Amino acid sequence: MRLQGKVALVTGAGLGMGRAMAEVFAREGAAVVVVDLTARDAEETLALINARGDCCALTADVSDSAQVAAVYAEVERRYGRLDVLVNNAGIGAAPNDGYDKFYERMAAMNEQIARGEEPTVHLDHIIDMQDDGWQKVLDINLNGLFYNCREAVRLMIRCGVKGSIINISSTAGLNGTGAVHYCSSKAAVLGFTKCLARELGGRGIRVNAICPGAMNTRMMASISPDYAKAMVASIPLGRMGEPVEVANTALFLASDEASYFTGQTLAANGGWQML
Ligand SMILES: NC(=O)c1ccc[n+]([C@@H]2O[C@H](COP(=O)([O-])OP(=O)(O)OC[C@H]3O[C@@H](n4cnc5c(N)ncnc54)[C@H](O)[C@@H]3O)[C@@H](O)[C@H]2O)c1
Repeated sequence: MRLQGKVALVTGAGLGMGRAMAEVFAREGAAVVVVDLTARDAEETLALINARGDCCALTADVSDSAQVAAVYAEVERRYGRLDVLVNNAGIGAAPNDGYDKFYERMAAMNEQIARGEEPTVHLDHIIDMQDDGWQKVLDINLNGLFYNCREAVRLMIRCGVKGSIINISSTAGLNGTGAVHYCSSKAAVLGFTKCLARELGGRGIRVNAICPGAMNTRMMASISPDYAKAMVASIPLGRMGEPVEVANTALFLASDEASYFTGQTLAANGGWQML
């Protein structure tokens, strides 16, 4: 019961790694606030974790600052405190971000390679990325994280809690493997984390990041099989990760066991990228 008596908010907790975090945190005694864009998924997670009846599910779009502020007002009303925030909600692709053309070119390139030819096709993803496709990923992955951190810190200061903030970045934010919108957003999360950790150290609020690698979730299911196969082949542990493996990393950072960790990045990625 490493989170006994704590209130933990997880964004994007309706599916994937966020749901796994909600499950692990609740098992360890936290009252978990499940936040997701999709009410049905949030309610499903709540049904899985709410054995003691002290968890709740709230629907919000993290890229909308007013909706985020309303979530924290509700958390303060219900619990009067917040101890842990995990900024997990994120997207890897958006309409008009050029992925359709990118995959067409990748298929053509792979066909050339399969025929034993020197590939003449270039992937050139950026040329088909429209403004709105770029913006949507930044709005959710970076702006959403900012809105949540701001509200969480306001609440932690108001209630005098030395809390823990955990930001989910990605291996893509370390090594640029992926599209420019996603890699930029996830690299920015690491810079944001270090800055906020310095800013809040004096208050005893810890801020850390996790860089998952290729994880077995819906987000990964949407990438092309060729791309997924090539990815797994380059991971030293030879497999994708399971959501609970990142959830256990988040549990460590959320708990008092990580009391001397701040501004750090833990890379739960099967050795794909070594820090
Ligand atoms: N899956 C991977 O391989 C992988 C690797 C590295 C990092 N990540 C990061 O981990 C996090 C979780 O990824 P996942 O694979 O579990 O994703 P997922 O798609 O399985 O789940 C993401 C959840 O976030 C929610 N969400 C999306 N946009 C939202 C919004 N605007 N407001 C509120 N909720 C929103 C979705 O409804 C969904 O429930 C993301 O930040 C992702 O970038 C994933």
